This record gives sequence, C-alpha cells and structure tokens, in this order.
Amino acid sequence: RVVDLDGQYLLPGVIDAHIHARSPGYEYKEDWSSATAAAAAGGVTTVIAMPNTDPIIDSPETVRQAYDIADDDAHVDFQSYAVLTSENYDQVEPLAAAGVPGFKVFLGTTFGEIEPPDDGELYAAMEAAAGVGKRIGFHEENDEILSHWEAQFKREGRDDPIDHARSRPVVAEAEAVSRIILLADHADAPVHMFHVSSGTGAELVAEGKADGVDVTAETCPHYLWFTEEVMNEKGNVARVQPPIRDAEERERLWEAGIRGGGVDCIATDHAPHTDEEKNVEEPFGNTWESISGFVGLESEVGSMATFVSEGRLPIEQWAYMHSTRPAEIWGLYPRKGSLQVGTDADFTVVDPDAEWVGRKETLHSKSKTTPFNGEQFVGKPTMTVVRGTVVYGDDTLYAEEGYGELAPSGETTANAEPRTYPN
Ligand code: NCD
Ligand code: ZN
Ligand code: ZN
Repeated sequence: RVVDLDGQYLLPGVIDAHIHARSPGYEYKEDWSSATAAAAAGGVTTVIAMPNTDPIIDSPETVRQAYDIADDDAHVDFQSYAVLTSENYDQVEPLAAAGVPGFKVFLGTTFGEIEPPDDGELYAAMEAAAGVGKRIGFHEENDEILSHWEAQFKREGRDDPIDHARSRPVVAEAEAVSRIILLADHADAPVHMFHVSSGTGAELVAEGKADGVDVTAETCPHYLWFTEEVMNEKGNVARVQPPIRDAEERERLWEAGIRGGGVDCIATDHAPHTDEEKNVEEPFGNTWESISGFVGLESEVGSMATFVSEGRLPIEQWAYMHSTRPAEIWGLYPRKGSLQVGTDADFTVVDPDAEWVGRKETLHSKSKTTPFNGEQFVGKPTMTVVRGTVVYGDDTLYAEEGYGELAPSGETTANAEPRTYPN
C-alpha cells in the first residue's frame, strides 16, 4: 500500500515507556487490549508496562504470565518492567533473562503497596543490573518525608485537591533523586528517574549527567502542560503522584529538562482508574478519598505536537525524546526508535495543522478520566504503523488483538550528553 502523507510529519514510531496496562489483576481498570487500542489510536507503536499488577511482576513466572496475556491481546508491540522489592532484589539476573527491558523500584507508596529494597539491597541490585546491562528506574518520591506532610495536612483538615499536590512537596522528589544519583555513582550503575515532575528534579539529573553518572530521566506531558492550578479547575481528576507543580517549577522543568536537555524522554504514566476510585462525582471533595493517576496514551502526541506548533519544542527533539531515546534507554534501539524506511519499521504520522479538543467520550481506554479532557491541541496523530502494518488510521483500529509482539530488548545505551536542538 502506498500512502501519500501530503505534508504530514513522519516520526519514528512513538514509544511510551511508562504505562499501566493493569493486567493481570486489575482488568476492571484496563487490560492489554484496551490499553494498546488506546496506544494505536494515540499514535503510539510500542508500550512498556509497569509491574504494579496483581500479582506484582517480580519473578520470571510473573513476567511470562504478563507476556502471555499481552501476546494474546495487544494491538501494538510491548514490553514490561519487573519490580525490585525487599523480597526479590537479588533476582536481577533471572528477571533479566526472562526478557524485561529494565526494572522499577517504588521508593514511595503508590497503587499496589510494594515494599522497596533498603539502600544496601538497592546498591546490590544496582551492581547486578549494571552487570547485565539493564537500568533500574525509580518512582522517585521519598515516603518518609511525605508521611510527615500528609499527617500534618490531615490534622489541619486540608482536603482540597490542591492540598494533595502541596502535601507532596518538591523536596521529597529532590531528596530521592539526589540519593539515587549518589548510590548509582558509587555502584557505577545505570539508573533512570520515571515521571520527573519538577525543575528541581530535572536540574539534579542534569548535574548528575555533568558529573558523569549514568542517570537518565523521563517527564510526562502533564508536568509540561499544566500547573497545580489545574487541581482547582478540574479537581480530583488531576490527582497524580508525583503531583503537578507550581508555575515556577514548571518553567524550570522546561528550562533544565527540555531546553537544557537534562530530561531524556517523554512518557505518559498512563494510569487508568475508575471514576469511583478517582472520586470524580465530587471533583472538589475530599482529595484523600481519591486515587492518584490518570490516562494519557490518547493525548500525548497531541500535547507534544502542540508544543512544536507553538515553537516551544523543535520537532527533531520531540522525535528523539519520544522515540529514539526511550528505545536506547530500554535496549530496543535500533529495532525501535529509528526512522529506517523498511518493511518492518514503526511510524507515527501526525497532521501538524489539525486542531482538535481532547474528548473523554472518544477514548479507547477503559478509564475516561484525564485532565486533558477539554484541552485544545494543534497536531493530531492520523496513522500508526507497527512493523510495516497500519494498526490505526482513518479513525479506525485496524490491528487485531494479538497483532502486537514482545519487542526484543538488549543492553541499555549509556548516558548521552544532553542534546539540545536549535528552534
Ligand atoms: C500510578 C498508578 O496508578 O499505578 N499512579 C500515579 O499516580 N502515578 C503509580 C505510579 O506510577 O507510581
Ligand atoms: Zn511511579
Ligand atoms: Zn506510573
């Protein structure tokens, strides 16, 4: 089939290296079919899923269980992280052999109640991961600091959505990022920061890179798009961990992370939950009774294309941060993340002039709850190509369940010099 792209952007297939597919265990929130239908519709060709499922993905058996489900159900290509906990931190080699692209450690409590390794266990896991060429990524919020604020806010009866954001101050992220960089430096190990939410966090990563530590980082469209004021406008819908920060932190995230090149890649932290769990009936009601996380797979290309259209992000840098760099970091390059024109290539086609509004009713994800509902975008994904086949186009999902394959993963690419692009 020959396709006339007629002035549209042709990007190497967008990779979302941070989604929660929720299966096994939480299929009422999302499953591999619905998550990857959302990916295909959103212009995303490969996803890497988080291991806070039920059971958690912490053994070769549970890795295989998740891969079997995804192999039957996925519409686009996939991978899954394994989690490292206080129970399995010494299982890095067998987990790597089971085909994970890397590891996630939850330093703070989020959905799933997973006990993190202590610093000694973590150090050992870092050395083992370095030995097999795999990177450990972190949910970088320090629980011990956070419990202090949360208790104080609850004591004072502060329970508005914006209070949830303010009860998780930037220092909790900064403390965790600094500590991990310190450990990684001594262990001589590659590490990654998932969902960096603040300019402070991005600046610490940039300093770590400058000091020669193999530290890479991700941020998410919502931290670049919104400020914490969204909590007052949209309520519990926008509740997420780490929280959306104030305008000054967002500006410094753009400066150090994007213009300065300190942040390597873009991913969504697509985190589906039900409306009841998010307490959107009472959007401005008790935020402590709402759950954190919201979906993003169907708005990420629109939001990043909008930054390009506004002249705030060079398109080459977008393609690097949303495709090439995550492929390098998780060992998928050059099978994924390169613009090689061949019969088995992945592409995302974007109409740069299409103006559209995010509408929850049109989402393929089981969860419809996102602060991007009602936001205006310039630039829309129009066609998604996985291994040479159009999986989504003409507003139609073409790929069957099971078309998606496990993407083979090799060793992580070492830290790159921060890349910046002329605008
Ligand atoms: C995530 C989830 O719902 O699984 N929630 C979130 O607020 N980010 C957990 C996570 O990414 O750590
Ligand atoms: Zn996380
Ligand atoms: Zn997440």
